[in-house]
Amino acid sequence: MSKIIAIANQKGGVGKTTTSVNLAACLALTKRKVLLIDIDPQGNATMGCGADKHEIELTCCDLLLEEAQAEVVVVSCGDLNFDLIPGNADLTAAEVGLIQSPRRERHLADALAMIKNRYDYVLIDCPPSLNMLTLNALVAADSLLIPMQCEYYALEGLSALMETVTNIQKTVNPRLTLEGLLRTMYDPRSRLTKEVSEQLQKHFGSKLLRTCIPRNIRLAEAPSHGLPVIHYDKSSRGALAYLALAGEIVGRNEKE
Ligand SMILES: Nc1ncnc2c1ncn2[C@@H]1O[C@H](COP(=O)(O)OP(=O)(O)O)[C@@H](O)[C@H]1O
Ligand SMILES: [Mg+2]
Repeated sequence: MSKIIAIANQKGGVGKTTTSVNLAACLALTKRKVLLIDIDPQGNATMGCGADKHEIELTCCDLLLEEAQAEVVVVSCGDLNFDLIPGNADLTAAEVGLIQSPRRERHLADALAMIKNRYDYVLIDCPPSLNMLTLNALVAADSLLIPMQCEYYALEGLSALMETVTNIQKTVNPRLTLEGLLRTMYDPRSRLTKEVSEQLQKHFGSKLLRTCIPRNIRLAEAPSHGLPVIHYDKSSRGALAYLALAGEIVGRNEKE
């Protein structure tokens, strides 16, 4: 089995990158073969894995512009036991370049076709917008994982995202499914959190993931050390939550 999961939400600061890096590390810890793709020009996932976005030679940009094949762009994250296709500010140029191609939304899907089967899970960390880069991720993906905070306006943003998903399913990628909604920076004591949670349960049912990621300072500190939290403080609440998430994702995908 090989599954490509895009991690997207057009809202910034909801935990997309934190989820991408930490889910990759926790899936790798459970012996799954994992590839993480950083398709956000901010390059935060790249830095979070300990790679220097200013130093790397080949990035996801070269892949999208067909200047390099996937197997040469992939780097190993060493002790973290997963692979990375790094990203940096060059991706902004890729977005412009893509516009001129007739197959503009399919470049990532085409590039991954060659290496996809080497991995159990391919995770794509998307930028905070519904641009051509995110569209490439959603066309390449089998499913979409949406990290979100339980805030008043979260539901409004969700309907725009779900509309985009429906459009993509009807046109460029009928295969795309919803992997799930992940509640991040979760505070069970807040009344608003409970109310939003109830609404999500009502609208999304089993697509609302059971695992909630608590607000945890270790999760915010780990990237400055270039480490996923499980390698930074393995007994922290953040590490345990992402391990639980990896277990839930594996359980949903690998049932006989
Ligand atoms: N569960 C969490 N607890 C504490 N801080 C978090 C948590 N998730 C994310 N953060 C912090 O919040 C900020 C935004 O998270 P990030 O994953 O970069 O969001 P996005 O990729 O959606 O923009 C970062 O500084 C990150 O370290
Ligand atoms: Mg991010």
